[in-house]
Amino acid sequence: MDKLRIMSVFGTRPEAIKMCPLVKELASHPEIESLCCVTAQHRQMLDSVLEVFDLKPDYDLDIMTPRQTLSTITSKCLTGMDEAIEALKPDMILVHGDTSTTFAGALSAFYHQVPVGHVEAGLRTYDKYSPFPEEMNRKLVSAIADLYFCPTVNNKNNLLKEGITDGLFVTGNTVIDALKTTVREDYVFSTEELNHLPYGEKKVLLVTCHRRENYGEPMKNIMLALRQIAEQNEDVELVYPVHLSPVVREAVDKYLRGAPRVHLIDPLPADEMHNLMARSYLVLTDSGGLQEEAPALGKPVLVMRRETERPEAVEAGTVKLCGVVQDDIVTMAERLIHDPEAYRKMAHAVNPYGDGHACERIAQAILWHFGRGEKPADLNA
Ligand code: UD1
Ligand code: UDP
Repeated sequence: MDKLRIMSVFGTRPEAIKMCPLVKELASHPEIESLCCVTAQHRQMLDSVLEVFDLKPDYDLDIMTPRQTLSTITSKCLTGMDEAIEALKPDMILVHGDTSTTFAGALSAFYHQVPVGHVEAGLRTYDKYSPFPEEMNRKLVSAIADLYFCPTVNNKNNLLKEGITDGLFVTGNTVIDALKTTVREDYVFSTEELNHLPYGEKKVLLVTCHRRENYGEPMKNIMLALRQIAEQNEDVELVYPVHLSPVVREAVDKYLRGAPRVHLIDPLPADEMHNLMARSYLVLTDSGGLQEEAPALGKPVLVMRRETERPEAVEAGTVKLCGVVQDDIVTMAERLIHDPEAYRKMAHAVNPYGDGHACERIAQAILWHFGRGEKPADLNA
């Protein structure tokens, strides 16, 4: 029997972190030819992940341009995907999450009548413009996909409510599979500065911020809040690997640079980031992935957004929404810095996002779909 040609498509840092373990898992099955096509919607931040996971793509669309618009990303992905699909002739295409690459990858697969598996399916805020454009991207991909790999039961229920009843699997999130390969107690940072931070003696706050819906006023508020937190607390060191987006960099330079106890550094390789998170005191972020990783590492998270599509860790008590108003962010951070009881209540390791075996379930579900294996049981079924 011919091998199944399964092509994983991704383009940004978080998709890469969550898809590399899956590309490798698929490659370990003798019945599968695991193919990898990157759009390179991100260039440096994608290449850094490929290096950490030692993965060489079969096809690279190399589409990134500075300050790219949603339309240019989507149109360049679509045109590039035509070539990649014709060259690699996949039996199934896997896309991840909710980026422009995700949507264009799924749409292109549909145009070529190639079935689609959606990894990290079923997340919703039910607000069309927040996160923007991600909420719409994931809904559009739901309309196209054939298989849905839901991280949680809650995600599966979201799809059931929308009338999507076939091809649903609860697998856990592949980010937990990735974390299992990167976090180590004896890890030595290659970014020398990180080896000398006063973990334990002071409170190391890890920060990231990049979302398009936070551009403008919300991002200004966030930067000013971070400045205030650093200025007011001598026992705090704030570490912020700044996203390469020029919009983000401008806001950082204008409102945060020069504040005391603030370490503004370049984006970190995924393994460095995960180990830094494991040693930090508190995480402040608007990122999706950090909301999944930090709870697994027992680190409280303040989410600098108005909503979240990841309510599971909020329910478990380790993630809180603090919004995008300066005073609110400062008040909630100060509480966790100064009130040990409030901190203790949030700082426990929970794993609503999986057991580290999501990739195995996804591979099994794909084999089942093509009549080559047993149907995998849902996680926590
Ligand atoms: C994208 C995704 C977002 C995801 C985020 C993860 C869309 C619309 N947005 O947002 O869902 O949360 O990635 O980080 O798909 N840049 C570089 N080098 C890089 C990466 C980015 O220079 O390696 C700069 C470029 O100028 C680029 C800009 O950042 O044009 C923005 O990148 P883009 O992918 O359009 O948006 P993100 O905000 O990164
Ligand atoms: N990350 C990283 N280096 C950094 C910042 C983040 O490796 O300097 C990782 C982080 O641990 C997580 C992922 O990137 O796995 C999150 O990506 P991002 O915040 O860019 O996107 P989102 O998850 O919001 O879509």
